[in-house]
Amino acid sequence: MMKSRVFHLLILIAALFVGANTLGCMKKVCGNNAQNEFRRCPDTDGSCGNYHTERSSGEIIDGVDVRCHVGEPIYAPIEGEMYFWRPFGGKREKSCADHGVRIEGTGQWQGYAVHISSVKLSFYGGHVEVGVEIGEALNRYCFNDRGQHDVEPHVEIKLYKEGKLIDPTHHLQNCMCTGQICESNSRNTLLGDPFKTDKRFNGVRGWDIECQMINDDNEDSPRVPMIYSPIAGETVGRIRLFTDGNGAYTGCDNDGIFIVGIDDWLGFEVRLYNVKARSDIGFGRKRIVQGEPIATRLGCDNSPDSVFLEVRFEGRVVNITDIITADNCKMPNFPVF
Ligand SMILES: *[C@@H]1O[C@H](CO)[C@@H](O)[C@H](O)[C@H]1NC(C)=O
Repeated sequence: MMKSRVFHLLILIAALFVGANTLGCMKKVCGNNAQNEFRRCPDTDGSCGNYHTERSSGEIIDGVDVRCHVGEPIYAPIEGEMYFWRPFGGKREKSCADHGVRIEGTGQWQGYAVHISSVKLSFYGGHVEVGVEIGEALNRYCFNDRGQHDVEPHVEIKLYKEGKLIDPTHHLQNCMCTGQICESNSRNTLLGDPFKTDKRFNGVRGWDIECQMINDDNEDSPRVPMIYSPIAGETVGRIRLFTDGNGAYTGCDNDGIFIVGIDDWLGFEVRLYNVKARSDIGFGRKRIVQGEPIATRLGCDNSPDSVFLEVRFEGRVVNITDIITADNCKMPNFPVF
């Protein structure tokens, strides 16, 4: 028992320091460009480095140009398997810039691949974790002595999902995805339809997020998974779903929390059912960072292997399926209420 408590505390401390990776959000790619800013648009020659815009060459590129000076360190923006890759397909006259990296995503990035060029790699393969330095930026225009030298130095990033190019913009900048919510479900896999009503939880539309018990090595019985805050918030309250006529029904299975958004998440309110707030958090006004372990799943005899999430924006229940599944991390345009 004692051993198990210590073990859980260690997990909790580790999680507090590491934080849950933010599902759908890439980390810094280059040097000190922490916000993954793109080169200016329009640039000196009228070209842009935004997704699906015209480059100096006149080509429309389904990638983005992240500002980056020659020689600056390049970091893996996702975890995955790394491969050397030639952005100019081995063209001899462009060989000085024909170096890049392909990272095939694993874990939260399974199914995605990212291409970065031009990069002089420090090593040519193997597994990389997010944030690991993999090389340094090369001059993409070393082969061309006309015009393009004046545009802001950059690396080009392309993102593939299931083999198709997708827009990486909001996976790189102002990334408004909720991140992983349950410890045992790294990709927010949903049970049943997204944004469905569920009679077990008020009948308000939301998401039934799979959340299985966790079997740790050296532990006899499975433990309840941790729950990470999907938003940055300030107030955590406890909610009881059912009442018994005399006031509150205090059954084991009757617990949930709500969080009121702050900062980027201002206007949002989140409710999570089948969870119990961490006792050391307490209630009242307290800042919570996104991804912070704020609760555990309930472990009652009849607890389902999922948690139910309900989201409101300015008081209305809203459909934010894409930012939960990380299909799109752009702040949705809610209708004006
Ligand atoms: C919620 O949003 C998703 C993704 O945009 C969409 O597929 C789904 O049909 C929407 N559900 C409802 C009930 O509006």
